[in-house]
Amino acid sequence: MKVLVTGSGGREHGLAWSVASSAEVERVYVAPGNAGTAIDDKMENVDIDVMDIDAQIAFAKQNDIALTIIGPEVPLVAGAADQFQAAGLTCLGPGREAARLEGSKSFSKDFLERHGIPTARYGSFENVDPAIEFSNGMSTPIVIKADGLAAGKGVVIAPTHSEAEVTIRDMLSGNAFGEAGYRVVIEEFLVGEEASFIVIADGKSFLPFATSQDHKAAFDGDKGPNTGGMGAYSPAPVVTPEIHQRIEDLVIKPAIEGMAEDGHPYVGFLYAGLMIDEEGYPRVIEFNCRFGDPETQPVMMRMKTDLVRLCLAATQGRLEGEQIEFDDQVALTVVVVSGGYPGDYAKGCAIQGLSKIEGGKVFHAGTKLEDGEIKTSGGRVLGVTALGQSVGEAQEKAYNLVNDISFDGMYCRSDIGYRAVAREKGDA
Ligand code: AMP
Ligand code: GLY
Repeated sequence: MKVLVTGSGGREHGLAWSVASSAEVERVYVAPGNAGTAIDDKMENVDIDVMDIDAQIAFAKQNDIALTIIGPEVPLVAGAADQFQAAGLTCLGPGREAARLEGSKSFSKDFLERHGIPTARYGSFENVDPAIEFSNGMSTPIVIKADGLAAGKGVVIAPTHSEAEVTIRDMLSGNAFGEAGYRVVIEEFLVGEEASFIVIADGKSFLPFATSQDHKAAFDGDKGPNTGGMGAYSPAPVVTPEIHQRIEDLVIKPAIEGMAEDGHPYVGFLYAGLMIDEEGYPRVIEFNCRFGDPETQPVMMRMKTDLVRLCLAATQGRLEGEQIEFDDQVALTVVVVSGGYPGDYAKGCAIQGLSKIEGGKVFHAGTKLEDGEIKTSGGRVLGVTALGQSVGEAQEKAYNLVNDISFDGMYCRSDIGYRAVAREKGDA
């Protein structure tokens, strides 16, 4: 069987790697892919832009693609999955309406409220004056979110009412995020520990992937500006078996049922970003309509079940009765970035040491193959991943692998997994 994965990041390399491990799969095409998906076994890049859905459909038809997995949110929110289905092709991913769970924060918050799914108290506004009045009535810090897609950068946590006002004016004037900021969601600041809970759904049933936790802040100690994610590990120790059940019952089940009730059955990966409070109760921070990046990398590293089998079952509405299994070991991914990221950074730097890697997996993100040489081409460059019996061991192994790799300006956090390591040592 031949499979197409669209996208070019670490998530897509992780998904393609898992797909390629299936005995049923002879070839995985990645459009447009990166250097990792250009060189891995069974994989091949196709030079088609991630947003050129017509060209992807033509390619899928010409090449007998049995399954397409759409990696990123932007094509999903634009309706890529609907287009594939309309062309008679099998494609995993929510359609445009269902993808609004990520594409519009106000749609998502209204959905959560309507279906009684726990989340932060909020208001959504298109006009400055009522937005500021609402914000002034809330205790600080205040969370302000641009309604539309903003590549993970549309969230501001304002420490004071006056800073909240500046942010609200900035977003609603269209200065900060253009179209994505024509409406804002203002919400209560949630306290607790974050976890990523990702499931595959077939419109009625779902199966949860192993839990994970990412580190969004650029610097050690979770300090500095937010990024797409500087590292992740799986499982998330904060999600005990009891909390796991609670998340399924209070969040995922009502979300899948709610989408079906509302006439938009959800088929694809659904990612709930959760805040777990001190009593162990989850609240939804956000929904994403795709797999996490970098969560994909540690989760796929632990997955024992055939991903293609699950994706096909999901597209055919028969996930019920399927099983999903994960390695008991911990997987930890350190994201290696270009110096300066999430701000400006250099591209085109040659990466050394990749051939030395043994005993782990380096997932590529912002890389490209140029004249047989692997060079940087983005902010997040590699996701260096290792398995271990404990978080501490996986962490040590992953950082040992990182030490083999070098390129000009290379940077990574030195403390990925620190909370979980502290838990293991009994310090947290
Ligand atoms: P989002 O893009 O909605 O996931 O927000 C990005 C990050 O901002 C989250 O991962 C949280 O760390 C933080 N955040 C968003 N909403 C809240 C909230 N209501 N309370 C506390 N932190 C939040
Ligand atoms: N790692 C966060 C995300 O994929 O949204």
